[in-house]
Amino acid sequence: MPSIPPFSHLGDMPVETFIAEYWHKKPLLIRNAIGNAEWPLSADELAGLACEEGVESRLLVETPATGDWQLSHGPFEESRFSQLPAEHWTLLVQAVDHWLPEAADFVEQFRFIPSWRLDDLMISYAAKGGGVGPHYDNYDVFLIQAEGQRRWEIGGFYDEDAEFLPGKPVRILKQWQPQQTWILNPGDVLYLPPRIGHNGVAETDDCITYSVGYRAPQCGDMLMHFASFCAAQIKDEERYADPDLSLRLSSGEICHSDLERVQSLLRHWMEDGDAVNQWFGELVTEAKYDEQPAEPEYEVDSSQLVELLQQGGELRRSEGVRYAYSDCGSSLQLYVNGESFDCSADLRELLAMLSDHNQYSAQSLLPWQQHPEGLELLCTLVARGWLYFPVTD
Ligand code: SIN
Ligand code: CO
Repeated sequence: MPSIPPFSHLGDMPVETFIAEYWHKKPLLIRNAIGNAEWPLSADELAGLACEEGVESRLLVETPATGDWQLSHGPFEESRFSQLPAEHWTLLVQAVDHWLPEAADFVEQFRFIPSWRLDDLMISYAAKGGGVGPHYDNYDVFLIQAEGQRRWEIGGFYDEDAEFLPGKPVRILKQWQPQQTWILNPGDVLYLPPRIGHNGVAETDDCITYSVGYRAPQCGDMLMHFASFCAAQIKDEERYADPDLSLRLSSGEICHSDLERVQSLLRHWMEDGDAVNQWFGELVTEAKYDEQPAEPEYEVDSSQLVELLQQGGELRRSEGVRYAYSDCGSSLQLYVNGESFDCSADLRELLAMLSDHNQYSAQSLLPWQQHPEGLELLCTLVARGWLYFPVTD
């Protein structure tokens, strides 16, 4: 089965227009963007997922009369859901696409944005009046109404100077003045760029909202990560050096020439295109959860892989595993799960296929059975648990 193609349009708007005019810039409401979507899971299945070990989930219960908010983290006992009040609560389950192939397929439609920008699919279920309060996030998000109705209010842009209500378990904006309000019905999508204030409140029971959220590494984290990537490759003998030192009047002064030497050392790394390339690929493909993926169920050698492909076996990218690739001079780098693999330029089509899709038909893989390097790479990816043969029924 081929991968689900990414949207070419959001409603009537070509995705090119969306990217040029809205992405990372301003909000957009798209009515009926997802016409006859097959929603990957029911409310019961979502609750079931929130009871599983390893799945990140939260339950937020509001008592409007007292202004009290109670937050608890999963995994939950099944009985927890029968003890909830009739209204004003919400269950939020993170990274559903990392666990369910159907949810991973749903997210494929959003790959008109580079796939390595994607974080996860969060799904929330709310009783009437349920929500997480007015807040802002530091990432782009598509909020997709799947069932019931949700009222969305949006406000202006906020930043870390914003004030939050004291003593609450979640960040709720103290000053909240909505500028626009919409009621979203199933299939409607609201796109929000980072830092836009928003408040979604369930208008009905059984309100299910999907959030396709992106990630943008924080600049401080990027610097730390890059520094440790470089540090791991720097020999102990590589140190600050000043053979051009000249006599000074004040021995305690740090002079411009000293700083220039330091800047030149740092620039050497920043301007090393191959280092930045490899580091960034590894960074953006790091797994969201350390324990993913699970141990591979099988190992194949190249002759077994060829046999399986010849029998029509398809492969799938393991849920939660991130792939990307980049050009590195005369060769290519494949990045998977925070690791990089040197590949020859011959593998370009294979790397593009692996990184752009999540399902690979036997037909699309068969040409690689003639290619020892491609075949070996596929065996490695299966052995590491980053590709698997899905069970077909
Ligand atoms: C939700 O689905 O309830 C809230 C998502 C959000 O506001 O970020
Ligand atoms: Co939000």
